[in-house]
Amino acid sequence: MGSKTLLIVTVALATLAHVAVAQPVSPTADKWRAPSEAAAKPNPERQKTTAPAVGRKLFSRTCARCHEEDGSGENGGAANLSCPEVQEQSDGALFWKITNGNTTNGMPSFTALPEDVRWDIVVFLRTLKETNCHDSGGSKGDKKEARPKSDAQNPR
Ligand code: HEC
Repeated sequence: MGSKTLLIVTVALATLAHVAVAQPVSPTADKWRAPSEAAAKPNPERQKTTAPAVGRKLFSRTCARCHEEDGSGENGGAANLSCPEVQEQSDGALFWKITNGNTTNGMPSFTALPEDVRWDIVVFLRTLKETNCHDSGGSKGDKKEARPKSDAQNPR
């Protein structure tokens, strides 16, 4: 297969993945969506046996103050990471979101974490239990607590 054909196939697959993520059941994804080429990236840490433990440790240290240890926290409008609208996004899409953040909505950018650690965190996110998803679709609206913005740029 020529490189041009390969490119077309890649773009087509990425587009398909994109469409699958953009279902109307996914209000967050509608607002904040990873570019398809980022979403199509495979997770290089997926087969690493140490990845879930490393991811858990760093999540606990870096993310739990907003997302809670089990990912279900919604402090400062944080997304419940155990919910299907997050879990149905690709590893590449979640990696992109962790990398870039959405600082206007209170999600910091985590470029300070090494790339492999960001992928490890994505592996850990896959271990979150859907039973912790209490989301009825309206979680974004009720911002009960003030955003811990002050240290948002300093994730460690
Ligand atoms: C200062 C609070 C805060 C910290 C710390 C934080 N987040 Fe977030 N996170 C948010 C908020 C708020 C949102 C919702 C942003 C939006 O939907 O626009 C969010 C959204 C996300 C999303 C996107 C979910 C979706 O709906 O697509 C992912 C994935 C995520 N966070 C992972 C992480 C990870 C992993 C860490 C640690 C490396 C982390 N977050 C640390 C506040 C935080």
